[in-house]
Amino acid sequence: MADSREQAQDGGIGSGRLANILRPHGDWRHAFSYHPMDVVLERADGIYLYDRDGRRYIDASGGPFVMNLLHNHPRMKAAITRQLERFAYPHPTLANPERAEYGRMLAEILPGSLNVSYLVSGGSEAVETAFKLARQAQLVRGNRDKYKIISVRDSYHGMTLAALGASHNPVSQRHFVPMIPQWPHIRQYSDFDRPAGVSREEWGVHCAQALETAIHYEGPQTVAAFIATPHGCGPDYGVVPPVSYWQTIREICDRYEVLLIADEVVTGFGRTGRWFGMEHFGVVPDIMVLGKGISSGYVPLAAVAVSDEINEAFLQSRAHFVHGFTMGGHGLACAAGKEVISIIRDEGLLENCRRQSERLFSYRERLLQRRTVADVRGWGLFLVAEVVRDKRTMEFFEPEQQAERLFQSLALKNGLVLYGTLYGPRRQPAFRRGLPIWISPPLSVTGEQVDEIMQRLEATFEEWEAALF
Ligand SMILES: Cc1ncc(COP(=O)(O)O)c(C=O)c1O
Repeated sequence: MADSREQAQDGGIGSGRLANILRPHGDWRHAFSYHPMDVVLERADGIYLYDRDGRRYIDASGGPFVMNLLHNHPRMKAAITRQLERFAYPHPTLANPERAEYGRMLAEILPGSLNVSYLVSGGSEAVETAFKLARQAQLVRGNRDKYKIISVRDSYHGMTLAALGASHNPVSQRHFVPMIPQWPHIRQYSDFDRPAGVSREEWGVHCAQALETAIHYEGPQTVAAFIATPHGCGPDYGVVPPVSYWQTIREICDRYEVLLIADEVVTGFGRTGRWFGMEHFGVVPDIMVLGKGISSGYVPLAAVAVSDEINEAFLQSRAHFVHGFTMGGHGLACAAGKEVISIIRDEGLLENCRRQSERLFSYRERLLQRRTVADVRGWGLFLVAEVVRDKRTMEFFEPEQQAERLFQSLALKNGLVLYGTLYGPRRQPAFRRGLPIWISPPLSVTGEQVDEIMQRLEATFEEWEAALF
């Protein structure tokens, strides 16, 4: 029987290739719960990934929306190496000037009075940190009973227990229920259940009012914070709410002394064409969670930005935030974080993101003409194509047809690595609507490269539809 490598080289998508795509060569038995694919990465450069067999792929989703900069960026390598030559890891309590400087640079780009930051190593850690911070902030303000965090259904904030509890995703939660803690969830903004004759702005206010209702039911004296991502999640992934939604949320939070936490792990650091997604709504949160693009994947780094008002309350009450991780503020992470900000500025990446966004979304109508593409949405360099079998009923293919796996293997054959490809089949029950195909290339992508990505995507659709209908 031909092995997976031979089948990969023939570029075929026969049943062998399909069957082996998640079964690469090698002894992976000692890597717990790791499901690698049959693409063994050799190196990465620019927007391209190269496997051990010399095949080239475009990193069309920047990994899971991580690579805001190009792979193998010379300035990133130089900045990290420079720091490595001095020291890699400082004891967290020693004064590391890099950390102070990085905090200053973050404050320069963060909106409003988000002027102080707490450094951690990943998005889930940052979400946990934000929850504890919100709780202790309420305590230092004298709000003894405010401890609940409200979030939205079908969201995703990470895999640690509290982050997963807030996420309220039945598929990710199913082995861990009852979740600790069991905090309330509300609906999110959606374009898909907006009644006829109601404008997006009106609907935005209506959807936001779900927060006020929840606060009433829980008792305003018990609610510490509300967390959400700037754009929609789950079945509404990438839906950008109208300004009225976020402005109403801000008003409600202010009315009940509820802290507003914006989870910008995906939308931060230029992905939407501005430094942060919330800037599009003219709303400044009290706490902002940052990850992924913050270091563009070069070194693990994440952060929680806090308003001056919260910081002041801690300082005045002489309270220390009871928290800390061994790797928080790692020397290499601070060096990488600083260089990311400088590169985004020096290379004009916010401007390039806005420019190339127009090019990317110019493919919207063409995609929508396909029989399987039900919706195309997003912002900046973040496009979601929602794929179904039947646009009328919004049903997806039967599981036996292995439609997701076929899409993945065809995309790989056509030289595209997509977010879904990286993670194997999406679990269908999580999506009440179609399968999302995410396109989010590095922010320095060129117009020609956008065209190349979309041509390869169209070729993948052609072959996929031909195989399934
Ligand atoms: C919005 C959001 N928040 C938090 C996280 C968790 O980040 P991490 O995987 O780095 O723990 C993710 C990860 O995908 C995310 O999309």
